[in-house]
Amino acid sequence: MICLSCPGSTIEADLELIKNNLDYIDMAEIRADFLLPDQMPLLRDFPEQAGLPCILTYRWPKDGGRENEAVGAAGGPEGLNPSAIESRCRIIHEALSGGWAFIDLEEDADAECELQLVKSAEAAGTRVIISFHDFTGVPDNLAQRMIDNSRGDRFIPKAAVMPQSSNDLLKLVDVYKRLEEVKHTSQGYSCTNGPLLSDYILVGMGPIGFPSRIMAGAWGSMLTFCSAGSVSAAPGHIRPRDLVEIYNYRHLNAGTKVFGIIGRPVMHTKSPEIHNAAIRKHGIDAVYLPFETPDPEMLLENAGKLNLHGLSVTIPYKQRVISAADSVDESVDAIGACNTLVFQNGWRGSNTDWLGFLAPLEKILSGKTPVKGCSALVIGAGGAARAVVYALASRGADVTVANRTVEKAEALAADFGCRGTGLDALTEERRAERSPYRIVVQTTSAGMEPDIDGNPVPGFDFRGVEIAYDLIYAPEKTVFLKQAEAAGCIVMNGFPMLKAQADEQFRLFTGFTV
Ligand code: ATR
Repeated sequence: MICLSCPGSTIEADLELIKNNLDYIDMAEIRADFLLPDQMPLLRDFPEQAGLPCILTYRWPKDGGRENEAVGAAGGPEGLNPSAIESRCRIIHEALSGGWAFIDLEEDADAECELQLVKSAEAAGTRVIISFHDFTGVPDNLAQRMIDNSRGDRFIPKAAVMPQSSNDLLKLVDVYKRLEEVKHTSQGYSCTNGPLLSDYILVGMGPIGFPSRIMAGAWGSMLTFCSAGSVSAAPGHIRPRDLVEIYNYRHLNAGTKVFGIIGRPVMHTKSPEIHNAAIRKHGIDAVYLPFETPDPEMLLENAGKLNLHGLSVTIPYKQRVISAADSVDESVDAIGACNTLVFQNGWRGSNTDWLGFLAPLEKILSGKTPVKGCSALVIGAGGAARAVVYALASRGADVTVANRTVEKAEALAADFGCRGTGLDALTEERRAERSPYRIVVQTTSAGMEPDIDGNPVPGFDFRGVEIAYDLIYAPEKTVFLKQAEAAGCIVMNGFPMLKAQADEQFRLFTGFTV
């Protein structure tokens, strides 16, 4: 199930949020700690107005909630303020007759009024969620702690924990596995009390925990939480629409093949949208997730545990994963960077950036071997330039590399048997009436957001016959491309390359052509 967490300051705002997301959600959680104090008396009617099963949660600041005048100063981890506990009990108690499907209390909620609240809730047919939060990592005893919190299937144990590494994410996967074992096997029964656990809620918070928010249901959690609107109720919440329309949440299951992208940071990347759209188009039982990770090797070593079959690799790991791969293809050796890993009896590394670069270029140039014999200028001599020079040289272009630091241009050029020069020399060349380049490729970060006024070659004298190709796609048109366009050149940005390298990755991952 998908549960929308509602952190509005008024009941009206929360109801509006639910209304706007009804197509994508099954349940709603009201976060009463976000409400203005004068809204508390209105809580009782919320479930009926919302029209779907609701969770009533008033979260303490120590567990990620907010201070609220409605209960007064809450106190911290060293101990909650008794009068705040009393006030919270009163607020929840007064709302209880409104038909709440669930209330959420923390595992340490054992004040007299809280124990009474649990009894009243049960008498009203409201199930009690017993929750636990850890913002520092994934505790070793988490599975047992949740089983204990279920108190022989009386309560629904919930844990929200913040993985700090892929190792932590894998620990979390083990917790799901353990809880599923307990849920589905005889280990889950005690002779005297029947089942130990039937429902539980488990999610990893933050960017590293994000895959677990998408896979929560598939891995066994009763629900996953999400947020809509401008305020997020917890770190890493995704919008319900994205959960359903990008990640295909309704169709994920324990056997779904997992693909993804590893890097740091990765939460901004467009790759999940591109790959999941292709997965959906072909009706494959698979999902593509962003794996933010400080320890990519852990993910590679534990592919089976995550049902991982393929990975895109982005900054800063394109070099680092080469030594972790079991084998690499020729393009990785030549470019010195790996952006694709496919798991088939071990990890095989390849590089699709160079093919992605060529695809849109070859579409524009006509002929059977369109790039062969073309004179090409590559601006920049970093990692991106290396893939471009490899692509152009392997297709038989006559390549010149020009860079701010001449030595780097010369070193890169020497590796591929072409010419290296400095950026300054380009204007002198023009004076010497050198015949124009057919292709000019801009590979530096100058001109990329936020440096949108940047241009590595402001004095370049385009003659209007060049194809000007900038690998940057944000902004859509860099100063470099505007300058080329004004001279009458054909211009293209880096988005078609991004798409084409992803299409090639998808083919390697699944065997399907996008
Ligand atoms: P990437 O892997 O994305 O290509 P990189 O390896 O850091 O990134 O390489 C960046 C390239 O852009 C370098 O060639 C750099 O020039 P230097 O070698 O002289 O540093 C070039 N570059 C970056 N900013 C630039 C700027 N403002 N003007 C000109 N060249 C620039």
